[in-house]
Amino acid sequence: MNKATRKAIIAGNWKMNKTATEAKELISQLIPAVKQADCEVVICTPFTSLCTAVELCRGTNIHVGAENVHFEKSGAYTGEISADMLVDLGVEYVIVGHSERRQYFAETDETVNKRAKAALAAGLKVIVCVGESLAQREQGVTEELVRMQTKIALQDVSAEEMQRVVIAYEPVWAIGTGRTATSEQAQEVCAAIRKVLGELYGQAVAEATTVQYGGSMNAGNADELLEKPDVDGGLIGGASLKADAFGAIVAAASK
Ligand code: PGA
Repeated sequence: MNKATRKAIIAGNWKMNKTATEAKELISQLIPAVKQADCEVVICTPFTSLCTAVELCRGTNIHVGAENVHFEKSGAYTGEISADMLVDLGVEYVIVGHSERRQYFAETDETVNKRAKAALAAGLKVIVCVGESLAQREQGVTEELVRMQTKIALQDVSAEEMQRVVIAYEPVWAIGTGRTATSEQAQEVCAAIRKVLGELYGQAVAEATTVQYGGSMNAGNADELLEKPDVDGGLIGGASLKADAFGAIVAAASK
């Protein structure tokens, strides 16, 4: 596998943090912090900060993403946001299937697939999150589970659409816990995901697809994780809320 054939992507996942006013402040610090990046830089913000983020990031190397999207085009879905609404704002990326959505908002592999397809149909780039819980890791089913999540998430997604798909491997036990996967564990599962992509779409697509690691990635461990041949970037929660920490991870991915 040749890492040089695909793009490293460092994406911030702000989760439910920062008002639009606070977002303005953080983005004004992020712009200089990542401007030398030699990788793709994305910030995924709450819906309420997207307008501000799109406006402030225009003309910079920062791409803007949302943290979720509904799968229907429009209609009676009070409180939901469609892919067309995101595109119209100038949003480029969207995260689907984050484990917090699976855990707290009844997201299933099937709805992850529906959201991914709706987002791709609208022209968005999609970051699909997969990953096992601690119990599943201890039961020894990590690979089977992640294979299944990946396969279901990508049902009816074409090889051509895969150019706009990123897979983020996020072990649930490592998210927001300060307990990062070892670089060997991250490599093992990212490689398993790439293998599944190869089975579904062939070697060329597998080698071209960015597979990120996420879960307590920070300035201190980013180098070691990103050095691994199948770890093509990171989905960053906590450390994406501080410009210096996020800038250091972007710098690690730019080496
Ligand atoms: P964390 O979150 O970096 O705070 O662990 C990662 C994520 O949930 O995407």
